[in-house]
Amino acid sequence: MTLTQAAERLRGATLAELSADSVRAGRLRLRVGPVYADFCRQRIDGPGLDVLLALAEAVGLDRMRQALAEGDVLNSTEARPALHHVVRAAAEDVPGSVRDAQTQAVEAVARVQDWVRRLLDEGLGDAHPVRDVVNVGIGGSDLGPRLLDEAIADPAGSPRLHFVSSVDAHRAAGLMARLDPATTLVVLVSKSFGTEETLLNGRLFVDWLAATLGDAAMRRRVFAVTANVEAAQRFGVDPERCLPIWEWVGGRYSLWSAVGFSFALTHGMANFRHLLEGARAMDRHFFEAPLDRNLPVLRGLVEHWNRVAFDYRARCVVPYDVRLMHLPAYLQQLEMESNGKSVRRDGVPVEQPTAPIVWGGVGTDAQHAFFQALHQGTQVVPVEFIGVIQPAHAHDAHHRVLLANLLAQSAALAHGHEVRDGDDDDALAAHKRHEGNRPSTVILLDALTPESLGALIAMYEHSVFVEACLVGINPFDQFGVELGKRIARQFLPALASDEAAATLDPVTQALIREIRSR
Ligand code: F6P
Repeated sequence: MTLTQAAERLRGATLAELSADSVRAGRLRLRVGPVYADFCRQRIDGPGLDVLLALAEAVGLDRMRQALAEGDVLNSTEARPALHHVVRAAAEDVPGSVRDAQTQAVEAVARVQDWVRRLLDEGLGDAHPVRDVVNVGIGGSDLGPRLLDEAIADPAGSPRLHFVSSVDAHRAAGLMARLDPATTLVVLVSKSFGTEETLLNGRLFVDWLAATLGDAAMRRRVFAVTANVEAAQRFGVDPERCLPIWEWVGGRYSLWSAVGFSFALTHGMANFRHLLEGARAMDRHFFEAPLDRNLPVLRGLVEHWNRVAFDYRARCVVPYDVRLMHLPAYLQQLEMESNGKSVRRDGVPVEQPTAPIVWGGVGTDAQHAFFQALHQGTQVVPVEFIGVIQPAHAHDAHHRVLLANLLAQSAALAHGHEVRDGDDDDALAAHKRHEGNRPSTVILLDALTPESLGALIAMYEHSVFVEACLVGINPFDQFGVELGKRIARQFLPALASDEAAATLDPVTQALIREIRSR
């Protein structure tokens, strides 16, 4: 049976009927440490799962998983392995082929720890404590630390963490207007140290520190996290304050490395280490558990099923926990930058659709914004609900309402409702009708801790890898973001000169005329 045939069998089936099958449920529910996932409200059954597992076997998922573990050059277009999992591994977890990388990662975490201790104990070396930390970076150099910052509480009295990512200078200007340079530390996070936004924003902060405090004090307040130490040093960063990241860790997979420095400094080294521990536990599960009892694999198979067999073009991520407000944006980069590709590893066009549009918002706010379309719109969008069982506050009544809403939304999407109030006529009843049969997944964390968050993020990373393997693409490069950057460099002079603008296409010329006329 092909994937399409397996899906066709289920077009008429309701999620209510499917959910009554307890054997099926046993295959679609899984707990790994603090992460529990329930895929029972997906439009899939046992034979569908078998077809997906056969596909996993046919594409050599087991072999690919081993190749990832052993550090094979899976990022073939950039001739690199992908070793983000090694960064959080212990020596006994890894094979000899990646032992050297694991040692470097341990040394890097030790350097992070050493700086965190020095900066918190001794301050900035001129009698000033660190009160504010500005993380300057974009994409993977921003979204990970930003997600962690909001999700994990900081110990009392810790420095505050701020983020500057876009080249839009409103953020940087606002921060410089209110922060005290004497007590501010700036971390320039850029694997390449060539990202225009980060260099421009970094220059603003470096100049601000130098102008207000002088060069020597500025140099004590600027750190870089980069694989391009020479460029960071040319920029003016003290070599001792350059923390490493490596070509073999992709930007969107990098929060486990020194990219987590600003988080460790403001939220505690212990929290950072626990985050790595949580991810490490999920790694062990992913690399060791059989494919049919493997959470990242199961999720990857279900996602593939939704995208390929049912052609669902989007997926909505809705955490019911404000602390996870940045998860949708984080997953957008992780999934869309990894798998938003049109060719396979060998350069041949893919035969199936790839990454869906990933978007979302926080529950219950999202219910009052876009859930109308999820329930009654013409496009079916599978939803991924993420809930946290134990809150970190004492307001149990609120938390019960929050969880009740999560459960209600998933049930309402699945079962729909024929609403006819009192004397409603047919037309009004039609407006109120919820057709149901809209798939969703529920993921529950026991509590939101560094461990559970580490495990959750690692689960997503591996799941994205599984999806890439099923379609045969390389999830570790991102050539699609380069073209726009190149064109922006070409367009820059046109904003100032008629002559340069004259070489551009007519639409751009008209827009530039409008911009320059104001
Ligand atoms: O947006 C493209 C990208 O290359 C991402 O993959 C990366 O996370 C981001 O830019 C930032 O890159 P860097 O860390 O090199 O500044």
